[in-house]
Amino acid sequence: MTKITIKSIKQLKHKPEPFAALTAYDFTSAQLVDKAGIPLILVGDSAAMVMLGYETTIPASLEEMLMLTAAVARGTQSALVVADMPFMSYQSSVEDAIRSAGAFIKKGLAGAVKLEGGRHMVPQISAIVDCGIPVMGHVGLTPQSFHQMSGYRIQGKTETTAQAILKDAAAVQSAGAFSIVLEGIPAELARQITKDLDIPTIGIGAGPHCDGQIQVFHDILGLGDFAPKHTRQFARLGALITDSVVQYKKEVASGKFPTPENYTHLSDSIQKTLSARGNGADPKRP
Ligand code: KIV
Repeated sequence: MTKITIKSIKQLKHKPEPFAALTAYDFTSAQLVDKAGIPLILVGDSAAMVMLGYETTIPASLEEMLMLTAAVARGTQSALVVADMPFMSYQSSVEDAIRSAGAFIKKGLAGAVKLEGGRHMVPQISAIVDCGIPVMGHVGLTPQSFHQMSGYRIQGKTETTAQAILKDAAAVQSAGAFSIVLEGIPAELARQITKDLDIPTIGIGAGPHCDGQIQVFHDILGLGDFAPKHTRQFARLGALITDSVVQYKKEVASGKFPTPENYTHLSDSIQKTLSARGNGADPKRP
């Protein structure tokens, strides 16, 4: 199986068709996504919401993200695994950014890291890249700025804010990022950024003109109750899982499960010894 590198991801910019990237947060989901041929798996800090039950991505800690990233890396053979740097693991200083990015590569076994922010994150991006760690940028709606944005709101709708995002994207590229996520911006702005930049743009809620699209695992599979506007449920696995668990519960209660193929018998002689000692009686299954 070919291992996807940042070189392979950069080459996707020149393909006529857009590519699909997806999040994953554990060993099993990473195996499933990797088997489907997705070239880039992001261990998003959306884990804080879909895996840990927080209301925003802000509470995700470095330790939690490291544990999830290492599990995803163990489940991935081909895709490039990108670790999302959690809130306050890189904003505070260039030194913190280098230390956190280094941990994701050494302990998390990731192939790259992602961080949110434009021009003001240039020192962090270039310092991490200078250490030999590939960086993916993220501009537009940056969920770690939830409070500053007064909620999850589409960014870049006015001329001034659109110009600011164009400058942010260009700065992220100049700082050395190998790709960039464009989240929650108008499609025309995403098209312009995609045209301007040499690195691949990966959109989420940013229209069809990006070089690639990225989505959250739980959203496209219909695992949660809520589906954001930017997504499509390609399956309703949440309902399927609940129905399957209800079926399991019913079959346990009715005695349909387990059946002999699910367990092992003792040899006759040992059975006899046990029942002679009075241990063979089963109040539920006489
Ligand atoms: O945390 C995340 O999952 C993300 C993407 C969806 C881009 O940042």
